[in-house]
Amino acid sequence: MNTTAPRRILVTSALPYANGPIHIGHLVEYIQTDIWVRFQQLRGHECHYVCADDAHGTPIMLRAEKEGLTPQTLIDKSHAEHQADFQGFLVNHHQFHTTHSAENQHYTGKIYQSLDEQGYILTKVIEQAYDVEKQMFLPDRFIKGTCPKCKSKDQYGDNCEVCGATYAPTELLEPYSVLSGASPELRDSEHYFFDLPQFEAFLKGWLNDQDVNLQTSMRNKLAEWFESGLKAWDISRDAPYWGFEIPGKKDKYFYVWLDAPVGYMASFQALCDREGLDFEAFWGADSDAELYHFIGKDIAYFHMLFWPAMLKGAGYRTPTGVFCHGFLTVNGEKMSKSRGTFIQAATYLRHLRPEYLRYYYAAKLSSRVEDIDLSMDDFKNRVNSDLVGKLVNLASRCAPFIIKHFDGQLSDALPENHLFVDFAARGEKIAQYYEQREYAQAMREIMQLADAANEYIDAEKPWVKIKDEASKADVQAIATVGLNAFRQLMVYLKPVLPQVAADAEAFLHIEPLTWADATQPLLDHRIGKFKPLMQRIEDKDIDAIIADSKEDLRAENTMQTANEQPVENQEDWITIDDFAKLDLRIAKVLSCEPVEGADKLLQFTLDVGELGQRQVFSGIKKFHAPEELDGQLVVYIANLKPRKMRFGLSEGMILSASDDETLQILLQGGRAKAGMKIS
Ligand code: 2FM
Ligand code: ZN
Repeated sequence: MNTTAPRRILVTSALPYANGPIHIGHLVEYIQTDIWVRFQQLRGHECHYVCADDAHGTPIMLRAEKEGLTPQTLIDKSHAEHQADFQGFLVNHHQFHTTHSAENQHYTGKIYQSLDEQGYILTKVIEQAYDVEKQMFLPDRFIKGTCPKCKSKDQYGDNCEVCGATYAPTELLEPYSVLSGASPELRDSEHYFFDLPQFEAFLKGWLNDQDVNLQTSMRNKLAEWFESGLKAWDISRDAPYWGFEIPGKKDKYFYVWLDAPVGYMASFQALCDREGLDFEAFWGADSDAELYHFIGKDIAYFHMLFWPAMLKGAGYRTPTGVFCHGFLTVNGEKMSKSRGTFIQAATYLRHLRPEYLRYYYAAKLSSRVEDIDLSMDDFKNRVNSDLVGKLVNLASRCAPFIIKHFDGQLSDALPENHLFVDFAARGEKIAQYYEQREYAQAMREIMQLADAANEYIDAEKPWVKIKDEASKADVQAIATVGLNAFRQLMVYLKPVLPQVAADAEAFLHIEPLTWADATQPLLDHRIGKFKPLMQRIEDKDIDAIIADSKEDLRAENTMQTANEQPVENQEDWITIDDFAKLDLRIAKVLSCEPVEGADKLLQFTLDVGELGQRQVFSGIKKFHAPEELDGQLVVYIANLKPRKMRFGLSEGMILSASDDETLQILLQGGRAKAGMKIS
């Protein structure tokens, strides 16, 4: 990309629903987008970043009712919380608006009217489930009943979680409303539809246009959608509904997903009003500005079919690119409230600074639509090793020499120019990686430079040279090389670590860094006092986040967070099939011994009947003396993936009960025998 001609760019992230807290899963996207926007600005481009709360829909209406609030009060509360969370994570939306705004009502109405005038809106009478007690039509997720295929009870109106069948809510046996329990009636209602099939040719052209920036896997997905055929999209809902009434149509409302993406425009309009920008220059059909949407893979259909078609139909420009990302797992599993890994933004921020997570996500993210895993151990180790051990350490190794022995003054020339020149030369490659959202590769390059800088200091040994009058003068130049390298690293990391960069700028006594600064050395310059820029992450910090997240769950209790699951939260339920995957056995302890060189471990040899003998290492030495377990019958998971440990292979796990204070291995007796299955 040309760095000399400034580009004009508008960037969006998906709008969070206004009825639940921001959590670390959401943050993958907001951090990914924020890094990209900061990078573009650092390169000197005009780049605006807008977002908003997605404030309409049935779940928000019902949630407000349940909490005894008006929907307006609920969404105002969410808005304030979301803004605080984003600020806390240094996610700098230039405008964080709401879809329940005058700007959004204006653009939604205008787009609808334009589509209608051109014959893109159809009406159809549809048959829908109606809750007579609540006096409202029921969205599919609010109807449950018995699966028509496998006869499992309490399945949702659109698919069965036991056998995986999909069906229409009308096919459910013994259906009931999850709101009132009443058996729903089928009633007719006239709905409005956006006639997507009319846009097929346009959308195919858009999909195949190589100037449109889409990921290959998403282009393939789009092609599959075309193959299965485009259908008209139902964009209306009947009263009572929390949203915008369709102009001129009594008791008919725009479906939340119609006005949500229009929220990107509305938010940008509010930014234009505040900052005097030209709305048309970014959204007009002839706009030469770039428009990018960062989204999760689950909402690609809305952003790659409905949205471009709506924009095209209503005479606006279409997106330059849509960038999809995968989901977040924590320690290799879906985020779970009961395991304490469903971590809210605010909970994390009570214990750790945001830039640890920003860096960790950056170190994991690529341009591919892949899920990323936050492994808590890896998170701690990587941050401690890279940010504290390599980056911050470089400054703390060099700055004290300059401050103490040279009155804060950097030397006026660089003796070993190669380090600076090499670092400067690497800037373009790193910039390319950022541009292409290959952040993991960018972080790898930057950390290689950090290693090189630390190796340079190791080799020059300024702590030795400073003691010898003959070489003392060299130390100023060595530390100046080191601090210049640190400053270059800070330029490259500034999109990811904006606060550390600001602190570094303050200590170096320099103006806010731009990308170009990485090519200009800082010489003959007085730096300020040095304060350590970052602390290590300790195990206790992570433990506290997990414990607090479990506490959040208890406090939340019946509160709902997921927009489409308003009645009960079953995310932690497992099916009988999941349980059956565990090969739980009775095992007899043949021997139990301490492990030399490991304070916490006991080594077990187990007799598992027909499965033979197994070796297990368990970190329970603090709670059990080996002799009390010898010969006992314990509960054992036989099919847990074996783990290579420093002391040997651990095959499976012995189960125990524990709380914050103590632990007890589950002992068996009576008729239990080694090898027996537990079910
Ligand atoms: O899936 C969601 O969380 C939606 N609230 C995203 C909306 S993005 C845009 F289209 F508004
Ligand atoms: Zn079923």
